[in-house]
Amino acid sequence: MAILPTHRPRRNRKSDVIRQMVQETHLAAHDFIYPLFLIEGQNQLVPVTSMPGINRMSADRLIDEIGQCVELGVKAFAPFPSINDKLKDRLATESTNPKGLYLKTVADIKRQFPDVVLMTDVAMDPYSSDGHDGIVDPESGEILNDATLEILGQMALAQARAGADIIGPSDMMDGRVAWIRDVLDRNAFSHVSIMSYTAKYASAFYGPFRDALDSAPKRGDKKSYQMNPANRREALRELALDEQEGADMVMVKPALSYLDVIHDVKTHTNLPVTAYNVSGEYAMVKAAAQNGWLDGERTMLEVLLSIKRAGADAILTYFAKEAAAVLRRG
Ligand code: PBG
Repeated sequence: MAILPTHRPRRNRKSDVIRQMVQETHLAAHDFIYPLFLIEGQNQLVPVTSMPGINRMSADRLIDEIGQCVELGVKAFAPFPSINDKLKDRLATESTNPKGLYLKTVADIKRQFPDVVLMTDVAMDPYSSDGHDGIVDPESGEILNDATLEILGQMALAQARAGADIIGPSDMMDGRVAWIRDVLDRNAFSHVSIMSYTAKYASAFYGPFRDALDSAPKRGDKKSYQMNPANRREALRELALDEQEGADMVMVKPALSYLDVIHDVKTHTNLPVTAYNVSGEYAMVKAAAQNGWLDGERTMLEVLLSIKRAGADAILTYFAKEAAAVLRRG
């Protein structure tokens, strides 16, 4: 004799209104932090081929873009600079130049939009002739941790002076959160936050970003500082250190292949957790959608929802503007 089901979860799925009533996770424009690529010049807009819909922009165009995003409810941005090769050197000297492309633009944006939140990037790679996040020992090729801290501290300070709201160290040197916190505090920037790239993995998904900024390592890879994708518990070790060192928010990067890590981090901290839905994750969805192999819009929303469901409070994503427009449309 067949037994009819007593429990029928489908009852909670029987109409739009009921489905909405019991929906556990929601997306909103204020969840997103929009990464932006900044280039020299005026009225410049150069598409990133591997990231359809994403452009490198000169400061004036970037400011227009921010204006459009603010209208859509996206109010947090993470600009990254593409630096002229001639300005790159071993010690990333250009990174602290207040009249340089990055810091000047950060100041301009804050002048035009005092209420937007700017998260600036601390790492040597966009300015380094070696294309690494730390100083490279010319003989051994080794990445020198403690000498790099000095530079990262100066970089963070220069960004705070330019008006950064949040400092985002993406370099993965040991001890940099404490170092940067100390430099900021001793220079009257105790109000400037630190969002640490807590668990940043040595990932193949960063390819399109490195193309966009021409920031790939000249020699070797980043495995001696970025984490091994095979490791999960190590993320919790990094989390404990970042908490002790004074991070205000912690991040997992990439997001989609690391949902387990996002979940682990969320269950082990009371700090806000963010995730970086990186360039390669964006490129995959766009490439499939362009081929007609996936519904781009639905896939985008599912990806973002999954990252939130795993535990992210906010998401750095190249989908920010598009997703905000879709959410507004309803
Ligand atoms: C480097 C940095 C990278 C990204 C953000 N900051 C690349 C890297 O570590 O080589 C990647 C972001 C993305 O792929 O969207 N400091």
